[in-house]
Amino acid sequence: MSLPDSFIYDLVQNNPIDGVMSSYVNLMKRGRDYVCLCPFHSEKTASCHVYMSDMHFHCFGCHASGNVITFIMKIENLSYIEAVRFLADRAGMQMPDEANNNELYRVKTRILEINRTAARFYYDILTNSPDGEKGRRYFAERSLESSTITKYGLGYAPGEWSKLYNFLRSKGYTDEELVLSNLCMRGKNNSVYDSFRDRVMFPIIDVRGNVIAFGGRIIDGTGPKYLNSSDTPVFKKSRNLFSLNFAKKSEEKKLILAEGYMDVISINQAGFENVVATLGTALTPEQARLMKQHADEIIIAYDSDGAGQTATHKAINLLSEAGLETRIIKMEGVKDPDEFIKKFGAARFRQLIDHSDGAISFEMSKCAAGIDLGTEEGKLTYLNRVTELMAKIDSPIAREVYISKVASELNINKNVIVEQVESIISKKEKAAKKAERIEIERFGKQRKENPEAMAHLKEYRAEEGIIAYTALNPENVDYVLSKINPECFVTEFNKKVFEKIVERIHNSTDFDIMLLQSEFTADEMSRINNIIFNNRSLNISSAALDDYINVLAGYKEKAANVGDLADDDFSSFFENLKRNK
Ligand code: CTP
Ligand code: MN
Repeated sequence: MSLPDSFIYDLVQNNPIDGVMSSYVNLMKRGRDYVCLCPFHSEKTASCHVYMSDMHFHCFGCHASGNVITFIMKIENLSYIEAVRFLADRAGMQMPDEANNNELYRVKTRILEINRTAARFYYDILTNSPDGEKGRRYFAERSLESSTITKYGLGYAPGEWSKLYNFLRSKGYTDEELVLSNLCMRGKNNSVYDSFRDRVMFPIIDVRGNVIAFGGRIIDGTGPKYLNSSDTPVFKKSRNLFSLNFAKKSEEKKLILAEGYMDVISINQAGFENVVATLGTALTPEQARLMKQHADEIIIAYDSDGAGQTATHKAINLLSEAGLETRIIKMEGVKDPDEFIKKFGAARFRQLIDHSDGAISFEMSKCAAGIDLGTEEGKLTYLNRVTELMAKIDSPIAREVYISKVASELNINKNVIVEQVESIISKKEKAAKKAERIEIERFGKQRKENPEAMAHLKEYRAEEGIIAYTALNPENVDYVLSKINPECFVTEFNKKVFEKIVERIHNSTDFDIMLLQSEFTADEMSRINNIIFNNRSLNISSAALDDYINVLAGYKEKAANVGDLADDDFSSFFENLKRNK
């Protein structure tokens, strides 16, 4: 499918590369630009640069390079068109194909309508119908105010098999659409019936206000406590968060992360707008990144039971990988935030937040779990665990503080612990450096995008010069073509790149290298961006261009005696070029 250039320009404009990348990496400001640890190879020192003037990133380690679309293709492992769709979604833009009555777009729109209608249906029953009495009683018992019920659009799904089905059929939706929405299911005899029966209903609403799914909680009787919509064309549970539609409006750059729908609603009702929960699964990396778009710090308020604590530990790791600070709420004597607020009120919950532990303190108390610190063995085990933990702390000051704390706790000489921690750190650094070197060597040697390059080094460099000149001076394309045609190119890859650039320059009013993205893979685009990037500062003159062209023109005659050109020979050739400028 081909997308209009103007759409791609808007897409890139509406997804500023710094904003997009900061959901994946920790960007550090360098003047107008940024640097970060490259997400595409393991490294200890930041060699990935983000240039704001032309909105592209470039890694000096592994040579990954490109604009926001290439970045998303590589990091989310998506095809070009998927990456474009991903970014369009992110920016709230409609894909041109979808606007043109595309089938997928039509189905999505229908499902969203069905969801909205169903949410209204469940809500009306809960608030207005004799059928909803059971649901009303349930929420009253759980102390939900009617304004909260309205705010969240909560509902009740009656116990019958086809109340919702009949209602939606009367509105003109087909069996297929109802089954696709997941609100109805198809039985053995092909009959279609309601998925949610005799449950209180929690609509899941995305940041744009669409009802994208439902969770339904059992009131009594048998079956799983919660039933959640499975993924549909409009819903991916791993990429959404409950109540983010409200939380995103909060001024605070903090989010409270709870385990359950009821916890979220309780916390919200107590006056904290900035609370979210996952949707019946453990936290995913996508959800961590989603939170990063709205916050710098996450306050984890999971259940106090063993499962909740294990989930907390996992969440701390995932969130800090996404570049988020974490704090952990500790509740004693209650099982979850909902119960805490009922028992002690909103003000005490606020105190709980203000006195929440940092991630390190939380992990430190975990290190002591199940250990008798009164015994020598216990102390040793604790020290081993704790020094490993200290070695993971990036800030030397924070490290110092915690080490002092451990030393005085155990009544041990601080220097001994420092030594141990430093030795772990230096071992880790060595291992990381080695891994980084191996990886860079692999990237360097491979040249997998242009396998012929090594055998034709001189021509290959000349080709890249011509490609860079043409891409950077599109207005001179006809001059270049008057001197050389793609057939003169020696390596197949560069030939294709040159052909596509020429084709694109002729077909667009405003050429940019990123318009080639639909024709090449993310790694190939990296290679192409490197060509441009490496030549940009050289400012290739037309004299240099002529030299490059001569290299290719002379290739056939010279091939016999030149053979493989060593790198050294090429540098002197290159020096000449620069002098001739
Ligand atoms: N969950 C689920 N399926 C289940 C149980 C739980 O999807 N069978 C998910 C729900 O998203 C639920 C969350 O896990 O909100 C937390 O579970 P739990 O603590 O059991 O439920 P609460 O939301 O706290 O509900 P309640 O207060 O009514 O127990
Ligand atoms: Mn719970």
